[in-house]
Amino acid sequence: MPFIAQRLARIKPSPTIAVSQKARALKAEGRDVIGLGAGEPDFDTPDHIKRAAKAAIDRGETKYTDVQGTVELRKAISAKFKRENGLDYTPEQITVGTGGKQVLYNAFMATLDAGDEVIIPAPYWVSYPDMVLLADGNPVFIPCPAANGFRLKPADLEKEITPRTKWLILNSPSNPTGAGYRAADLRALADVLLRHPQVWILTDDMYEHLVYDDFKFATIAEVEPKFYARTLTMNGVSKAYCMTGWRIGYGGGPAELIKAMNAVQSHSTSNPSSISQAASIAALNGPIDFIARQNEVFKSRRDLVVSMLNQAKGISCPRPEGAFYVYPSCAGVIGKKTPRGQTIGNDGDFVTALLEAEGVAVVQGEAFGLSPHFRISYATATELLEDACRRIQRFCATLT
Ligand SMILES: Cc1ncc(COP(=O)(O)O)c(C=O)c1O
Repeated sequence: MPFIAQRLARIKPSPTIAVSQKARALKAEGRDVIGLGAGEPDFDTPDHIKRAAKAAIDRGETKYTDVQGTVELRKAISAKFKRENGLDYTPEQITVGTGGKQVLYNAFMATLDAGDEVIIPAPYWVSYPDMVLLADGNPVFIPCPAANGFRLKPADLEKEITPRTKWLILNSPSNPTGAGYRAADLRALADVLLRHPQVWILTDDMYEHLVYDDFKFATIAEVEPKFYARTLTMNGVSKAYCMTGWRIGYGGGPAELIKAMNAVQSHSTSNPSSISQAASIAALNGPIDFIARQNEVFKSRRDLVVSMLNQAKGISCPRPEGAFYVYPSCAGVIGKKTPRGQTIGNDGDFVTALLEAEGVAVVQGEAFGLSPHFRISYATATELLEDACRRIQRFCATLT
C-alpha cells in the first residue's frame, strides 16, 4: 500500500504477540488451549506496590512529570544501580521510559545513522532487529548455538566487528533461552571490546533477578569499569516485580547519550505514567523477599519442564540459568510426519502442528533467529505446564 512508509516493509509484527493472539482465537472457538507464548509472570503485582500507586492518585500525582522520569524515581534507580550492581549513575544519567522497550527504542533512534551496524547474538529477543531496522540501522547476527550454551563466543564477536559497528547487544539472562553470562564470560567479551573503542554496549538486564541455583548475575560495566563511558545499562520493573502492565523501564548511561534519548522521548510519549512511576519507587525501595519466593516456584517449574521435555521423543532441552524460558531443540522431529500426513519441515511446522493437534501454543525458534528450536515460557501455573508437557510428549510420540 503506497500510503505506508517503506520502512515498514523492513519489519514484521511481533511473532510472540501473534502466537498469543492465535491461541486466544482458538480458545474463543471453544478449543482447550494452553498458551505458553507470553513472556510475563503469572504472579500478581505485590500489594505494597499497588498501594503506592493508589496513594499517588490520592495525592494528585496525576500530572505530567519530567520527560525522563521524576527525580524521586531516578534517585531510587540510582540507588538500585549502586546497591545491586556497584554502578554510579547520577539521576541525570538515568532515563525512564514506558517499559524497557521504549528505552531501547529511544537508544537506537538517538544513535543510529543509516547503515550503522548493531551486533545481535542469536537467538535474540524478537524486538531488537526490528527496532534497529526502524532506526535505519543494520542488524548483524552472530549464531550462538546450544553447543555454546547459547552464549556469544569472544572469537565470533571479534570476527563481526567492523568500523561501522555501533552497538553490541547483550541480554543476560536471555529471552528466549534463559542462558546467563557469568562475570568470567563477560570478562572474555570485554577483552575483545577493549580493542574496539567505537563499539558501545547495550546491556539488557531485564531478567537480572530471575536467576536460579548458584548463578550470580553480573553486568558488563561492573565487570569492566572502563566501559562505563560506552555502556547503556537497561533494566526495568516489568519482570522481577510482576509489573508488565505498568510499563516502566529505565536505563543508565553517559549523560550525553541519556540527553539524546530524552530528546527522542520528549517528542513521542513524554513522561511515562506518573502513577506507574510512583509505584516503581515503592518497588525499587521496598522489600524484595517476594522475589526469592517467586524464584523458588520458577525454579521448580523450570526443572519440571526440562525433565518432561527431555522425555519427549525428538526433543532435547538444556537447563537454563535464569529468566522463565526454555529453548529446546526439535531437531529430532524434523523430517517426520504427523498422523494427518503433514511433514514437519522446520520449527514453524512443528509449533503449528502442535497447536492444532494438542492445543499447546509455543513460539517457533525461527522468530528468535535460531532454528530448529521453540520457546516455552514457564511463567504459568504448574498444573498447566505439566499438562502441556504431557501433550507435547504425546504429540511427539505420534510422529513417524
Ligand atoms: C529481553 C527483554 N528486554 C526487554 C523487554 C521489554 O520489557 P518491557 O515490558 O518493560 O517493555 C522484554 C519483554 O519481554 C524482554 O524480554
